[in-house]
Amino acid sequence: MGNGFLRILQVSDTHLFADRNKALLGVQPQKSFEGVLDLMRKESGKIDFIIHSGDLSQDYSEPAYIRIAEMLEEFKVPVYCVPGNHDDPKVMAAVYPHAAISNDRHIITKNWQIILLDSHKPGAVEGYLDHHQLNYLQHCLHTYPEHHAIALFHHQPVPVGSRWLDNLGLTNADEFWKIVYEFPRLKNVLFGHVHQEFEKVFNGIHCYSTPSTCFQFMRNQDRFGLENLPPGFRWINLHDDGRLETAVVRTDKYIGVFDEKATGY
Ligand SMILES: [Fe+2]
Repeated sequence: MGNGFLRILQVSDTHLFADRNKALLGVQPQKSFEGVLDLMRKESGKIDFIIHSGDLSQDYSEPAYIRIAEMLEEFKVPVYCVPGNHDDPKVMAAVYPHAAISNDRHIITKNWQIILLDSHKPGAVEGYLDHHQLNYLQHCLHTYPEHHAIALFHHQPVPVGSRWLDNLGLTNADEFWKIVYEFPRLKNVLFGHVHQEFEKVFNGIHCYSTPSTCFQFMRNQDRFGLENLPPGFRWINLHDDGRLETAVVRTDKYIGVFDEKATGY
């Protein structure tokens, strides 16, 4: 904001319940998210917009979707989101736009475009980009061929190194990558779902995930487990010349009781 670049905050996997006191795996998602918001407040006045990369609600309830939109309103910037596997896109479409959160799926600025896609697959944990989503991606990239581009959706399109989690990623990633390779200005892909910080250059494309605002999955494991790492968010600076800088910021400590024996959720 006035710094010569755009600054975005990415939050992910808030998993809020209608009941703000309800806990999941030793963590109250509401309380943990509030801890991350405290950290985000240090960014106030410097942010251009916020993007939530899915799993807004654990119980896909209207009160949870309404509350998160109202909690993010204090930043006074537009907030965009995509549905995750735990979300109900129909409920989201009925609730949004509300408070800070809009329904827009295309962020376009002077030099950049961010294309938000829906990888939610009804009744499944894994993800899928149907032909509407893939056509939309292609359409945006065709329409603004000179804009530096980012694709953002919930499920990981690349393996992150954990067998159980990589079985639950984007199942038609090949179709997605085929389109990406046709458009040289699309150099960055952002996602959530994996509840961990991850960065990898995949065939020349930079792939980034963001930690959850509640519990984190143990990295590089065959089976589900939690990792004793604090929640956080990712900041992203977009420069006019196409450069992207980014890093993850975390709270001082785990917010809740770390459940080292958790076997799933
Ligand atoms: Fe999640």
